[in-house]
Amino acid sequence: MGYYDEISSGYEELHREEQLKKIGIIKRHLKVHSSDRLLDVGCGTGLTTEPWGCKRYGIDPAPKLLERAREKGKVEYRLAPAEDIPYPDNNFDIVVSITAIQNFKDIAKGLSEIKRVGRDRFVLSFLKRTKKRDIIDRLIRKLFIVEDVIEEEKDLIYFCGK
Ligand SMILES: C[S@@+](CC[C@H](N)C(=O)[O-])C[C@H]1O[C@@H](n2cnc3c(N)ncnc32)[C@H](O)[C@@H]1O
Repeated sequence: MGYYDEISSGYEELHREEQLKKIGIIKRHLKVHSSDRLLDVGCGTGLTTEPWGCKRYGIDPAPKLLERAREKGKVEYRLAPAEDIPYPDNNFDIVVSITAIQNFKDIAKGLSEIKRVGRDRFVLSFLKRTKKRDIIDRLIRKLFIVEDVIEEEKDLIYFCGK
């Protein structure tokens, strides 16, 4: 069992406030229309998948976190890693990945998959303190057109196109 599955019961209690703060910042910078299809990659318990006013989808490789996400209701959640996203090309108007990229096994593959399934708006965030910070920054800039980067308390948040 992975780390996130082990802490699944306490995840929201530990992280709800800080993750919702990040969503608040993102909402001020991202246009979301009710007809948009949004995919959350590394969605965990759905904290970062639920609060959008559009059609939402989430994927995560941790079964226990997804179990909690599914209890919430209306979103389509699938068990899958970023490296192998089970959707066709250009399937989503918006793809977000919040505080998950530093956990991907193969970051280059995960980011390429995100680019493949997304159409034009991407929001990618990761922990500032990760040792992989420079690698992730380089990969995002190589694969996407970076429109803005916001440094919040714990994460760097990239707003991108392709
Ligand atoms: C800090 S949590 C963030 C969860 C959620 N986005 C949130 O903000 O509450 C990191 C997430 O990355 C997920 N993760 C780990 N490896 C992954 C991979 N290869 N592809 C996608 N997600 C992964 C974990 O299962 C976990 O849900």
